[in-house]
Amino acid sequence: MNAQQANDFDKISLTAFMVSLARQFTDIPYAQELAQLVEAQRFVEQSLPQNQDKSVLLTARVEARYKAINQVMAQYEEITQVLELASGLLPRGMTLSYDSNITFIETDLPAMIRCKQQLVEQLIGERPNLHFIELDATDSPNRFFKSTVHFQAGQPVMLLCEGLLTHLTLSEKQQVCANVREILRTYGGVWITPDFIDTASFSRSLQNDPDLQKLIQTGTNFTGRSIVDNNFVTPNQARQFANEQGFGVVEYSMLNVINELSSLEILGVDAEVVEKMLATQSVFALTLE
Ligand SMILES: C[S@@+](CC[C@H](N)C(=O)[O-])C[C@H]1O[C@@H](n2cnc3c(N)ncnc32)[C@H](O)[C@@H]1O
Repeated sequence: MNAQQANDFDKISLTAFMVSLARQFTDIPYAQELAQLVEAQRFVEQSLPQNQDKSVLLTARVEARYKAINQVMAQYEEITQVLELASGLLPRGMTLSYDSNITFIETDLPAMIRCKQQLVEQLIGERPNLHFIELDATDSPNRFFKSTVHFQAGQPVMLLCEGLLTHLTLSEKQQVCANVREILRTYGGVWITPDFIDTASFSRSLQNDPDLQKLIQTGTNFTGRSIVDNNFVTPNQARQFANEQGFGVVEYSMLNVINELSSLEILGVDAEVVEKMLATQSVFALTLE
């Protein structure tokens, strides 16, 4: 990774604050507390124009993907080693590490993961089974491997990421896939992610929500990366890409969690609109073929 690329990736970190603010309108444990700390410490004030922190569809989307990933994870409950890529301000590590049998490693770019660790320690203190490691997910396999330092050899791993690949170019996505393959080859296990998205359904959901359009535009202006340009034209192309990367893919519709979405009531969202959006969204469980 060169310095220009590192700088580019750092700009994506703003989007972690944006989704954290969106998650506060849900019942996801610690989502509110994290968003309150983000607001209190004014991390995003200069970057986000006023009143651009609320999009009902963004909230429904991030709540659905979080809960849909948890639902798929439950099918692999025998796996106790979790490596989360691009954790941002996700609260999953705080929740799952209550169970002392779980080893949870959160990773993100250096500045972001340091910020996350500081916020988590403010909320729950330190836990021996919750770790924070600097990791550029597109880095060389060697460096990527170092992030697994707390895992036991011979035990399978669950890799997670949400909202990372969607910002990356095709060759950056390929690098992440190559790194994940190496981990699965060594430890065994599964990669659970909703990040193989197509632009057609994404653009359709934008049409329903001018606030989401504004937020995405703010993100694009800031990161210099377009979610529309950096993803797949059709759902089939997204699936085909995952297969070409050497993964067997099982797909779970996000509609499976529609009844668990608290944001519909909290924000008074039209369930039909959300249902339409989620009908085109999936979480993928990827294993080595
Ligand atoms: C849209 S945010 C998603 C954060 C979190 N997964 C969530 O759902 O709330 C994108 C995240 O990707 C991280 N990121 C960007 N480029 C990265 C890279 N090359 N390697 C690892 N993380 C990266 C950013 O720091 C940010 O936390």
